[in-house]
Amino acid sequence: MAESMKGLKRTHRCTEVISVELGSTVTLMGWVQKRRNLGSLIFVDLRDRSGLMQLYFEEETIGAEGFAKAGTLRSEFVIAVTGTVEKRNGATNESLVTGELELKVLDLRILSESLTPPFPIDADITVKDELRLKYRYLDLRRPNIQKNLIMRSKIANLTRQFLAGEEFLEIETPILTKSTPEGARDYLVPSRIHPGSFYALPQSPQLFKQLLMVSGYDRYFQIARCFRDEDLRADRQPEFTQIDMELSFVDVDDVIDVNERLLAFLFKECLDVDVTLPIQRMTWQTAMDLYGSDKPDLRFDMKIQDVTDQVKNCGFGVFTGAIENGGFVRGLVAKGLGDISSKRMKKVEKTAKDYGAKGLAYIQLKSDGSIKCPFAKFMSEEELDALIASMGGESGDLIVFAADSFKVVCDVLGALRVFFAKELGLLDPSEYRFVWITEFPLLEWSEEQGRYTAMHHPFTMPMEEDLALIDTDPGKVRAKAYDIVLNGNEIGGGSVRIHQDDIQEKMFECLGFTNEQAYSQFGFLLEAFKYGVPPHAGLAYGLDRLVMLMAKEENIRDVIAFPKIKDASCLLTDAPGPVDDKQLEELSIKVDLEEE
Ligand code: AMO
Ligand code: AMP
Repeated sequence: MAESMKGLKRTHRCTEVISVELGSTVTLMGWVQKRRNLGSLIFVDLRDRSGLMQLYFEEETIGAEGFAKAGTLRSEFVIAVTGTVEKRNGATNESLVTGELELKVLDLRILSESLTPPFPIDADITVKDELRLKYRYLDLRRPNIQKNLIMRSKIANLTRQFLAGEEFLEIETPILTKSTPEGARDYLVPSRIHPGSFYALPQSPQLFKQLLMVSGYDRYFQIARCFRDEDLRADRQPEFTQIDMELSFVDVDDVIDVNERLLAFLFKECLDVDVTLPIQRMTWQTAMDLYGSDKPDLRFDMKIQDVTDQVKNCGFGVFTGAIENGGFVRGLVAKGLGDISSKRMKKVEKTAKDYGAKGLAYIQLKSDGSIKCPFAKFMSEEELDALIASMGGESGDLIVFAADSFKVVCDVLGALRVFFAKELGLLDPSEYRFVWITEFPLLEWSEEQGRYTAMHHPFTMPMEEDLALIDTDPGKVRAKAYDIVLNGNEIGGGSVRIHQDDIQEKMFECLGFTNEQAYSQFGFLLEAFKYGVPPHAGLAYGLDRLVMLMAKEENIRDVIAFPKIKDASCLLTDAPGPVDDKQLEELSIKVDLEEE
């Protein structure tokens, strides 16, 4: 039966008891982790968000009724106990903060009872994702998830503290708004008052933060919720949070400077990790050429090597064919994987194919001196030896080659590089390796749309030295855009914006927008720019991703209180769900579902 807490006040959280004097009386409230009966003694571990505290009940001190009540306690009951803090009688429990102490309970109240939970509330258990998310409120009681959310709160607070200190103003921007230009699909909200019209949920505060610069706020930030209807992965959610910022009268170096100091501050305060400044910078082209990725993991070396020139006249048609089509032949050496089993090698080939390879040419330099190379028959022995030598291959190594377009070669070798690093245990989980990727291409050719699209967004400033190329070779223009990458993950990105109307017009032209189209989508911003726009630039972090990496989690869901699953639904609330006909009627909406 549930009792009231009338007349009682919690004096401490469980682990705060370590700072009170032995013999003090305290009142604790929390959940029963477990109970053990030892005849005349009952032990209970009490849990709250700070941790565990051992309680003990003795008939002598608590009386027959209280002792009997203690005997009914079960896991996840909510209780209040008043008692005296004592040194443990038994052995110290090294794994607990309160491991030297116990509480002799003088008074017990059961504030509420609990059904048997569908899984134990414990950090070290594996529970099916579906079950965890259906009972998320119980999953959130587990200490490992609590630790993540506590860290998340701390990171948000430290960010506010740091940015306020740098004279940033925290300003909120609307959630019900117009489509923003980040390139994912929008979530739409129907308007009741304007039948047939829709708001879009923001993919980012991009346009509003630029307007705030026009308004003279000069340094803005927001911890902003963003919505993107895109396919979910381990590092993506349909709604997620950005640490978003924009600054006026600045260039690339200014944005990078303040952000490096922010990152160093967060890592020091949160993890006691020293981030060495300045953070390394690498151009997009170098990142792609050497690591096959615009978010390279630099915790290990294993660079991609180009052998296009060397093999252009060899007898192997796969290589020469790719080169004749304007492609490249590039390879990787995985040191120490030369004796890889055929089964694992199949997995390597499958990974390559998953990333777009038509096949994977490889040389296994086994440690017994023998060589396995399916394409050896297409080359002379000298050619093969020269190829191995130029790659720096040694006995015990595996060499792989991709022959294809620039994009496919990068995708395949970039993915294999990470695959091999995992295979070889090269990813040091204790290392935090940052890199800025700069000088991104301004535009990306979209086969699907048959036109250029903005790689970042249409307000990104081209590099001044490339301006002339916009008319002649738009694909070659580099942008004043930058991403911050941590251990192979893009944790943030931004750019200098266009504030000169002639450049903006050119940009829209490149993207195939007519003046009307540009105005119908972004008219309010373009109009605002006519009233005195300062040069400005900004950046946004994915807060969830940042916390995920700082908490060393593999999945973004483990740092979000109520996340969604792969199909964008919420197992706890069952959202999204159908609504009343009346609600639809008010919105002038008819649902037209095709019969299965
Ligand atoms: P961008 O689109 O690169 O830039 O987003 C910034 C950062 O947000 C994170 N992110 C996500 N995190 C979780 N789930 C998602 N679906 C998701 N999508 C993006 C990433 C990314 O680096 N307005 C610009 C920023 C600017 O130019 O100032 C923007 O939104 O970590
Ligand atoms: P084939 O002559 O097509 O059987 O290919 C010979 C070898 O080259 C096989 O091991 C293929 O996996 C590999 N291969 C095929 N296409 C490519 C490619 N685009 N890049 C690298 N290797 C390839």
